[in-house]
Amino acid sequence: MSDDKIILTGIRPTGSLHIGHFCGALQNNVFIQNTYDYKYMYGMIADAQALTDNFDNPDKVRNNVIEVALDMLAVGYDPEKTILFIQSEIPELTELTFYYMNLVTVARLQRNPTVKSEIEQKEKFSTGLPVGFLNYPISQAADITAFKATIVPGGDDQAPMIEQTNEIVHKFNSIYADVLKPVKIITPDSNHAARLPGIDGNAKMGKSLNNCIYLKDSADTIASRVQSMFTDPNHLRIQDPGNTKDNPVFIYLSVFAKPEHFAAFMPEYKDYSELAAHYERGGLGDVKVKKFLNNVLQETLRPIREKRELLARDSASIMEILRIGTNKARAAAAETLSEVKKAMKLDYFN
Ligand code: TRP
Repeated sequence: MSDDKIILTGIRPTGSLHIGHFCGALQNNVFIQNTYDYKYMYGMIADAQALTDNFDNPDKVRNNVIEVALDMLAVGYDPEKTILFIQSEIPELTELTFYYMNLVTVARLQRNPTVKSEIEQKEKFSTGLPVGFLNYPISQAADITAFKATIVPGGDDQAPMIEQTNEIVHKFNSIYADVLKPVKIITPDSNHAARLPGIDGNAKMGKSLNNCIYLKDSADTIASRVQSMFTDPNHLRIQDPGNTKDNPVFIYLSVFAKPEHFAAFMPEYKDYSELAAHYERGGLGDVKVKKFLNNVLQETLRPIREKRELLARDSASIMEILRIGTNKARAAAAETLSEVKKAMKLDYFN
């Protein structure tokens, strides 16, 4: 093996995945899986982390483990290449977390920008913050270091987690022994990722905002979601000039519409920039553009949905994939834990 990169990706199972996840992370992770040189690539379903803000809803997390696994496999995660596993089935991660907790101050956790903004947004934490939630960056450091991951693909919101992980790595290595590996975040490039707004134009697509198109949505649901999309509110008559910049219909087209979609459904335009230019100068109606977007999304999502439906018929074999992956991941984490404990002089009976 020419390369010793170890790549770890993680997803919280709090809901089915939508096209925002697809564009923001999934597609990029599959690209990495299929093109990078690496020693191991892991895909973790972070159910224990999901519980840090859903501890009162165990059914939600439990049920979404299989949902998320189906979504991951449907978009191209390949269990031959990516070790898929369930976080809570690896108790070594909890044990590592416990030791790392000595290396981080409460103030440092409270300063973590991602944690800080999540706390502010969560109504249920207004009366008190659970220790487990504040602690989740440490648990994420355990996830990353347990597998000696050198690369974590992620968006800007994950950068503070990686920074915090590296602080723990350096502190651990300088106090005990050189056991843990520093990690780099790779933020996806624009060819393989984009940030999608919701269908209502809200900057973020999110389940609680009810502005998503899900990977498992039926053809009819996709059509009616596209129909109801927010566009440019000042584009009242077809001849009016339109705004494509803050217009989710155009943002989605800029991401999803490929040359073959133009050839098949919109042959009067060569590409996105011609279509957008026409809308901006006036004379192109929303109905026509939405119809095109519907065709593009149907073509893009149909193969994913069909694969997902096929996989969902045999959930036992999905659980088997997760079981096999979890066993492999657990062996790797156990090895790191034993090195960590040895470095900390916690190896009495060896
Ligand atoms: N925090 C990540 C998210 O919210 C999920 C996650 C947990 C993760 N552990 C990880 C991601 C380790 C990368 C590596 O999406």
